[in-house]
Amino acid sequence: MNGRTALVTGASRGIGSAIAQRFAELGARVLAPSRAELDLADDDSVDGYLADLQGPVDILVNNAGVNSLGAAAEASDEEIAETLHVNLVSPMRLARAVAPVMAARGYGRILNVSSIWAVVAKPRRFAYAASKAGLNGMTRTLAVEVASAGVLVNAIAPGFVDTELTRANNTRAELAAIVSGIPLGRLAQPAEIAELAAFLCSSRNSFVTGQVIVADGGYTCL
Ligand SMILES: NC(=O)c1ccc[n+]([C@@H]2O[C@H](COP(=O)([O-])OP(=O)(O)OC[C@H]3O[C@@H](n4cnc5c(N)ncnc54)[C@H](OP(=O)(O)O)[C@@H]3O)[C@@H](O)[C@H]2O)c1
Repeated sequence: MNGRTALVTGASRGIGSAIAQRFAELGARVLAPSRAELDLADDDSVDGYLADLQGPVDILVNNAGVNSLGAAAEASDEEIAETLHVNLVSPMRLARAVAPVMAARGYGRILNVSSIWAVVAKPRRFAYAASKAGLNGMTRTLAVEVASAGVLVNAIAPGFVDTELTRANNTRAELAAIVSGIPLGRLAQPAEIAELAAFLCSSRNSFVTGQVIVADGGYTCL
């Protein structure tokens, strides 16, 4: 990643923080805007951030996400709108802005952090699952649009990662039950997701595009 500029959203903590750290170790210049600098719930903030960007972005990681749990009947208009905006609309708007610049320069990597809940069901993930399924669709379509220009677009679908999000959405007892259902017998560490992100976003990845790579310790194999 030497000489590459990488924009990683949601890098204040969790998976995004680990990705930003790993990319920096691999030589990238990492842009890791705080929510005050780039608020994905706010189109004006996204537009302002893009307008102020200094130089081209070679790697975009759409990592930031929200997951406020709720069944269909409980979901408010505001929760649906915020989840879809932060998790899907803003990642699409960021990708739309940077992909043509990457294509014109003949190199780019875009990675969307999706979720296993895009393809397998779990109650109370009504808006979240829809947002991540949309991200998977966007990944595939964009990948085939920009492939010939040397831009590779993929997604990672983590299972359970040991982050604040996971701890906020599951009680200790629920986490113990979850771990017992993961063939590897534990949650993922953010650094393990970052390692996969690093490969997919590096020049070593030269032929994987349009894919949603599941990293769940075997959870969805059962
Ligand atoms: N943890 C898991 O088990 C798991 C599993 C599957 C998929 N994922 C996905 O992985 C990604 C990262 O998850 P995580 O567990 O690392 O989450 P996390 O610890 O809750 O961190 C979320 C990150 O997103 C940022 N963010 C939230 N709303 C934002 C907004 N409106 N504008 C800009 N940034 C915003 C947060 O910034 P602030 O610090 O400002 O709040 C934070 O940096 C998410 O897309 C999530 O859906 C996670």
